[in-house]
Amino acid sequence: MPKLTVVHPEKEQDSGEVEALLAQESGKDLLRFLTCGSVGDGKSTLIGRLLYDSQLVCEDQIAALEPGAGKAGAKGEIDLARLVDGLQAEREQGITIDVAYRYFARSKRKFIVADTPGHERYTRNMATGASNCNFAVLLVDASKGIITQTRRHCCILNLLGIRKIALAVNKMDLVDYSRDRFDAIVAEFTEFSQTLNFEDVTAIPVSAAKGDNILNTSKQMDWYHGPTLMAHLETVDVASDRTEQPFRMPVQWVNRPNSDFHGFAGTVKSGMVRRGDEIVALPGGKRTTVERIVTYDGDLDEAQAGDAITLTLADEIDVSRGDVLSGTDAEAEVSDQIATHLIWMDQNPMLPGRSYILKTGNQTATASISTLKYKLNVDSLEHQAGTNLELNELGFCNLSLNRPLVFDPYKQDREMGGFVLIDQLTNATIGAGMIEFGLRRATNIQWQSLEVGKGVRAELKGQKPCVLWFTGLSGSGKSTVASLLEKQLHGSGRHTYLLDGDNVRHGLNKDLGFTDVDRVENIRRVAETAKLFVDAGLIVMVSFISPFRSERRMARELLGDNEFLEIFVDTPLEICEERDPKGLYKKARAGEIKNFTGIDSTYEAPERADIVLESGKFSPDELVSTLVTTLREKGYI
Ligand code: ADX
Repeated sequence: MPKLTVVHPEKEQDSGEVEALLAQESGKDLLRFLTCGSVGDGKSTLIGRLLYDSQLVCEDQIAALEPGAGKAGAKGEIDLARLVDGLQAEREQGITIDVAYRYFARSKRKFIVADTPGHERYTRNMATGASNCNFAVLLVDASKGIITQTRRHCCILNLLGIRKIALAVNKMDLVDYSRDRFDAIVAEFTEFSQTLNFEDVTAIPVSAAKGDNILNTSKQMDWYHGPTLMAHLETVDVASDRTEQPFRMPVQWVNRPNSDFHGFAGTVKSGMVRRGDEIVALPGGKRTTVERIVTYDGDLDEAQAGDAITLTLADEIDVSRGDVLSGTDAEAEVSDQIATHLIWMDQNPMLPGRSYILKTGNQTATASISTLKYKLNVDSLEHQAGTNLELNELGFCNLSLNRPLVFDPYKQDREMGGFVLIDQLTNATIGAGMIEFGLRRATNIQWQSLEVGKGVRAELKGQKPCVLWFTGLSGSGKSTVASLLEKQLHGSGRHTYLLDGDNVRHGLNKDLGFTDVDRVENIRRVAETAKLFVDAGLIVMVSFISPFRSERRMARELLGDNEFLEIFVDTPLEICEERDPKGLYKKARAGEIKNFTGIDSTYEAPERADIVLESGKFSPDELVSTLVTTLREKGYI
């Protein structure tokens, strides 16, 4: 009996365990596939059936699956789903909540199956599970037919570059093994998927619970003459020869034990490299040739995709960790603006203009969505206009990065063209992306260096330029304090400028309202403006509600060290509302203004402001004199 190893990681990165396991094995061909489809389509039962009929399940496991041993199964049958539903929580809730990777081997092939959740909330895990698979089994419940979640998963498979799928029409026993029902589902699916890029869709009528057409040909469906699911899994051709592709090696670390040796270590992601090959280090663009290919077992003449190596180069060129060594016949692309497909996986919607962390296999950048070109309607496959992406939505957008990224389009190279987006504050993975192309405009616009710089402009004015960023609720006293401060600084000969929310919204930002999306853009523009004024040598006061931590942080990061001070005008909502200088709170309470900060739109108070002013307790003059003292102490004025 073949060895069965069940790896059930609770965390995504634990898929490394599976990798490690496989690294020890060799020989047989490997199929990485995933199962997906809607909740209740029977994924766990299907995998359980594959393992059980393959006699890959131990006696004691079977005993635990007998009826009465746990969650109810159909009378007289063992509950196959329990075999694979490893996580406590999913047993309790009856749904699969994380990607479970399972490894099993049969005589023809080895398999890694990613059992991914069908529940709407867990699209994220499905995308994670699919990203390293090359085949998918998409389940449909024959009694329910194709539903939105089936179509959504189908779109995700397509975006993730899976070209071959099996459409397993499950629970055929519930529809009396009806050929008409099967044909209708297949026809509907064919119609839906014709504009997607699948190379091969093999539809198989099955019953995972009864075992029809899983390993054994069903006696109930003599009208079906195709392969069983296992026969298809064992024979489907998904060979992808990564060595055929151009050479790419991200540099994992620079090895310089002594002055004689200078090596660049990493794993070859695609293609091959030989001694004497010309390579280019990106994003820098310097070219040189490979001198040695060093490994633990001695030097090699050539290395290929999957090999962990250290390269030494003929010339001393500047290469650091995160750079990519690329073949010169087909160089990887470099751009700080990219067009990408995005799968949004967070409860909080994606907001254009907000900064996120973008991570590829080896590179990290700060990214913001500059334009959402369209959202994909997963039912009709239509492109729809939209201002943001909600949980589980798919969209095509332009991203603007703070540094050039080295990549290949995802269609050419999944490893070099895939990335995830991470929330700056919570560190949660909130999106998965596939790079379609780099935007030409990025390479056509270069930074123009000017004769007169920030330093000399500031010097002439005899001051240290900076941004004093006032944040707080409407009516908190931001503008009053900022304006008094400006008066005082101006009086003592400083060159200043005050950017005030209400005023800027009359000009530069008059196209913006008060939705979250508009507020993010409002702050992005004012932060960029403040940066220009700092470059002009001015002391800039910004007085905007700026309700979100992410954007205040983005503003801080735009500016240099010691150029940005966050001043929180901390006035309780009740006091602001009592003051109500513009009568806006009254209107908001009466429902005449929507999305009013503090009423029906959030204000995220700073966690660590540089200066906190309690305007409920002190007069504006008192606050300004404390502020001036603090600014002096901190060396800003
Ligand atoms: S921010 O949230 O995008 O930073 P900003 O500081 O530009 O807001 O503008 C806030 C000012 O607009 C408030 O002081 C208030 O006078 C006015 N305003 C009008 N509608 C709203 C609203 N819905 N929420 C908050 N302020 C509003």
